[in-house]
Amino acid sequence: MKKIMIFGAASAIAQETAKLFARDGENLFLVDMNIGRLEAVRDDILSRFKTKIEIYEMNALDFDKHQELFDKAIQTLGGLDAVLIAHGTLPDQIKTQEAQEMIIREFNINCVSVISLASIAANYFEKKKEGCIAVISSVAGDRGRQSNYIYGAAKGGVTTFLQGLRNRMTHSGVSVVTIKPGMVDTPMTAHLPKSPLFAKPGVVGKGIYKAMLSGKAVAYLPGYWRLIMFIIKMIPEWIFKKMKL
Ligand SMILES: NC(=O)c1ccc[n+]([C@@H]2O[C@H](COP(=O)([O-])OP(=O)(O)OC[C@H]3O[C@@H](n4cnc5c(N)ncnc54)[C@H](OP(=O)(O)O)[C@@H]3O)[C@@H](O)[C@H]2O)c1
Repeated sequence: MKKIMIFGAASAIAQETAKLFARDGENLFLVDMNIGRLEAVRDDILSRFKTKIEIYEMNALDFDKHQELFDKAIQTLGGLDAVLIAHGTLPDQIKTQEAQEMIIREFNINCVSVISLASIAANYFEKKKEGCIAVISSVAGDRGRQSNYIYGAAKGGVTTFLQGLRNRMTHSGVSVVTIKPGMVDTPMTAHLPKSPLFAKPGVVGKGIYKAMLSGKAVAYLPGYWRLIMFIIKMIPEWIFKKMKL
């Protein structure tokens, strides 16, 4: 029986991954910043599958609580085998670029808090010489675009951090999995017009589950985003600047 901690566990995507681990009988420690939503997620999963679930309310911006929370999860579950970091926010680019405090806040949520949690997990798993650290980054981190570069830069920071962490963990038996979803139909994107490129959270949640089990380094979800981003990254800067992306 595996013990898995999930941050941002009430997110539409992470809930789907949590269900699949619960189906396998794994024990879960779910963290998010709204206890009511966490209770609903826990009750929903327990109504379908027989497993053990602990919940914990925490704002990821409470950096001082990160280590304490890990210690609590390890104590409660009797150890940890995997961590999934899924929390995040999608800021309004125009409003955010005009307000320094909003830029800092978005970076703290989408990048700094993620790096802090992943680092604590890495130090724990490195000593154990096994474990899995999976983080939801985004295709938005692959190339800066005028419409979304604050969120994109925070995710790009996470992607580069994970690349280095994976390099460090190569000989420790710890897998570091970078998840790069494209557009997913969740509360985060509820305000955006939908296109055929939007995936369902269940599809992406299942992709994360599989990537964590296999220890894949980088998972574009759905997989066609690997090709899309390859093409987007190939566009020369002088052309890209003229495109209203
Ligand atoms: N949807 C997409 O198109 C897409 C694409 C690429 C990557 N992603 C990434 O996928 C992950 C999951 O997002 P989602 O699409 O499933 O959206 P979601 O359903 O809105 O989930 C985001 C979760 O993060 C939580 N959260 C936000 N700020 C937090 C904070 N300061 N501390 C703790 N938790 C916080 C939210 O809690 P509240 O609901 O209580 O605010 C919510 O449970 C995110 O990292 C996102 O950036 C999403």
